[in-house]
Amino acid sequence: MTTETRPVVVAPSAALDPAALKADFPILDQEVFGHPLVYLDSAATSQKPLPVLAAMDEYYRRDNANVHRGIYQLSERATAAYEGAREKVARLIGAPDPRTIIWTRNATEAINLVAYSWGRRNINRGDVIVLTEMEHHANLVPWQILAQEKDADLEFIPITDDGVLRQDVFDVLLRLKPKLVAFTHVSNTLGTINPVVEMTRKAHEAGALVLVDGAQAVPHLPVDIAEIGCDFYAFSGHKALGPTGSGVLWGRRELLEAMPPFMGGGDMIREVHLRRSEWNELPWKFEAGTPDISAQIGLGAAADYLLGIGMDNVRAHEQELVAYALETLPREVPGIELYGPSADQRGGVVPFNLPGIHPHDVAQVLDRFGIAVRAGHHCTMPLHERLDLAATARASFQVYTTLEDIDALAAGLKEVQTLFAG
Ligand code: ALA
Repeated sequence: MTTETRPVVVAPSAALDPAALKADFPILDQEVFGHPLVYLDSAATSQKPLPVLAAMDEYYRRDNANVHRGIYQLSERATAAYEGAREKVARLIGAPDPRTIIWTRNATEAINLVAYSWGRRNINRGDVIVLTEMEHHANLVPWQILAQEKDADLEFIPITDDGVLRQDVFDVLLRLKPKLVAFTHVSNTLGTINPVVEMTRKAHEAGALVLVDGAQAVPHLPVDIAEIGCDFYAFSGHKALGPTGSGVLWGRRELLEAMPPFMGGGDMIREVHLRRSEWNELPWKFEAGTPDISAQIGLGAAADYLLGIGMDNVRAHEQELVAYALETLPREVPGIELYGPSADQRGGVVPFNLPGIHPHDVAQVLDRFGIAVRAGHHCTMPLHERLDLAATARASFQVYTTLEDIDALAAGLKEVQTLFAG
């Protein structure tokens, strides 16, 4: 690894070339059980390109010091890189003001921050929070905890059998005048891309605030906070080519200003006395203690990398991959069951089952061929219950995924079928 930031191999306007991009991801250049690694679990976590590794390496090799504290060169450089990353991430999601980007460890922590800070102050007995049947546990459990504590009511937008939200039922639920509507931008399990702009508009007309879980959207398609018009937007860095431990809560400035801190400690204060304190300004009011400095610097490099490729190119690439998978897998793997909507309505996620073979067995055999997929409930137990599925296997894509990876998956699945037929 060098400490220099390598240029992105694809110019912003060029079509995305996954085979060339693969060279930026050193981890992908390895064999597993004698087969070239085929990594199809990017929805769980993405791999990291050289510029992200280099940015983190450079921080630890050259700039390691605490941020906002030291009056010396290292700390000033560390602070500049840390705050510079905030500006890069703001650009990635179209947030006009970097001070409304709150660093968190991941999307889960970002949603918990809203549930604890905004929720405990604004949700009261009998209030309604509308969620959906396709939520990841991260956008479900924090609201369950809040609703139980406050005796509030959770309502759910159901899905069709194809995994699309029932907008007609959403319209009915809005008549309950919810205080908050919280939903995922893109389903981590089915890949469904939800109509976030329209849903936000309808929720606002009904007087609700809107939180969008963007964990599976920011890494895969153009996200423009201003266009969506939501009030809170949460995502993880590690799925967006950044490191684990990096994440973001974006919020409307006036809401963040009015919210009490989530955690207390160093850096989130302006003044501390023995019996009372005054809070720091945004965004630091919500960032208590020494943060994961290198992780957020790495996320800034990931944002630059994705912007360098162009998010329209990323989306077009993944749409091609999904369309290819939805066409190839049923043809090559007789009997395979696929779930979720059509390619134009979904991100780079393909859940499936081979009838009669448990998805854990499918994943284990695929691993012997160097193919990594996730199997289980993917942190969406209620969605699996709704679809009457104990579990699924899931292939998920990123900029470095090629059509050949999907061919390898199809060939691997045929091997699984042969093995279990015998
Ligand atoms: N939420 C991650 C996934 O979908 C872990 O796999």
